[in-house]
Amino acid sequence: MRHNSVGGSKVSQSPPVLGLGFLGMGTVGCGAARILLSHHDVIAHRIRCGLKIVQVAVRNPNKERAVSLPKAIYTTDPFAVVNNPAVDIVVEVMGGLEPAYQCLMTAIQLGKSVVTANKELLAKKGSALLDAARERGADVFFEGSVAGGIPIITALKQSLAGEKIHRIVGILNGTTNFILTRMARDHQGFAETLREAQEKGFAEADPSDDVEGRDAAYKLAIISAIAFGFRIAVDRIHREGITNIELADVRYAEELGYSIKLIASARKHNGQLELRVHPALVPKTHPLASVSDNYNAVLVEGENVGRLMFYGQGAGGAPTGNSVVADIMDAARNIVYGSRARIVCTCRPNPKIRPIDEVESRFCMRMDVLDRPGVLAKIASVFAHHNVSISSVVQRESHGDTAEIVWITHPAPYASVKKALAEISDLDVVSRVRPALWVEPD
Ligand code: NDP
Ligand code: HSE
Repeated sequence: MRHNSVGGSKVSQSPPVLGLGFLGMGTVGCGAARILLSHHDVIAHRIRCGLKIVQVAVRNPNKERAVSLPKAIYTTDPFAVVNNPAVDIVVEVMGGLEPAYQCLMTAIQLGKSVVTANKELLAKKGSALLDAARERGADVFFEGSVAGGIPIITALKQSLAGEKIHRIVGILNGTTNFILTRMARDHQGFAETLREAQEKGFAEADPSDDVEGRDAAYKLAIISAIAFGFRIAVDRIHREGITNIELADVRYAEELGYSIKLIASARKHNGQLELRVHPALVPKTHPLASVSDNYNAVLVEGENVGRLMFYGQGAGGAPTGNSVVADIMDAARNIVYGSRARIVCTCRPNPKIRPIDEVESRFCMRMDVLDRPGVLAKIASVFAHHNVSISSVVQRESHGDTAEIVWITHPAPYASVKKALAEISDLDVVSRVRPALWVEPD
């Protein structure tokens, strides 16, 4: 921390200036840097100190960027940024596990404050980073890591600090929501829409993280840990992606009064935590059904507050940049006022996780069957054998001697539905069975 000294007088010292070191200057880095540069004065006034980007690590210093910074501050060595004595706050927006983890651990050990938007890192290595930060009395802020521009971390950590949260359900991935929206609205194909999401800067460096549901699972692990007070191992979250979703699934869902969304859900059930990420049919009347494009939403249910809904852009440089800047300002305030590490991680280890096979839900299943008398009864008897009760069945158009059937069940355990489907797909009258889709309650 330096003071912008005016005439060297101790009495007339001007506000301090804190040095920011950026690891990465891509979509999110540029989003944050643009806000820092364009709102410089108002930010300085609000936090009673100046902020200056003193060094930036990137892979290619010669690349053209969406923000104009002096060429001399770029380096290809992230550790040079972390170890730079002029850097007070390290802002990690490069993604991936390494070197991000070692860089942030080093920064914390040096007593520097850390801001990151890296959900993979937090979900996989957050415990070690937060333990080190608590021991060192350093701050780690990560608002940008979940739901882009939505301030859900601060809301859970601070505004809902005294609340007993029962359930969180949300749309936590902008890329998949963008793809599913385009499929439903414009009947655009999966691959084409994914390319568009990548061009807009919504997708992860490896977009399979988005479409396979890993990104949403990382985010669910982060917010569930805060909401329920337990460290969540991300591999304990049941996860299905959207790569199996076809235009026909989206079209049928629309016709039946549903939108297909990639849902992330965490809830308490008899002392256990139920954690899942999967595509689901969401009734059109549900508040999540109308969340479209790169928007995210998080519905929180608490004992006293009832239902709260957070809505906003979940991906993109500007909205996420806003969250990163707010974190930088929090970190700076804590340095200026000597109040670092006020809010530390208090999560306990080893939560009891409810086995996914026991979770009950309604399910929707689409299958191609022989268009012959008695076929529906044969399939219905398999469902009945597994105690799966059918709520509705719709026969779609026939192609030759094949008919397409869509079944929606009453609530049934996931295991029973899977067993019934496996048996049905072995029937000689059934030519193709699509994976079961979860159906969200109203
Ligand atoms: P980008 O790929 O756009 O930017 C990554 C930046 O990091 C680039 O500037 C790149 O350099 C630099 N970089 C990567 N690896 C290294 C390395 N080993 N050494 C030095 N520099 C490196 O990613 P995003 O901005 O999209 O994402 C950054 C992080 O924010 C990720 O953790 C992501 O999950 C998260 N996030 C992204 C959101 C989004 O909407 N995009 C929203 C919320 C969070 P160069 O430019 O030279 O290649
Ligand atoms: N790839 C992520 C998404 C970026 O699409 O939601 C925001 O975390």
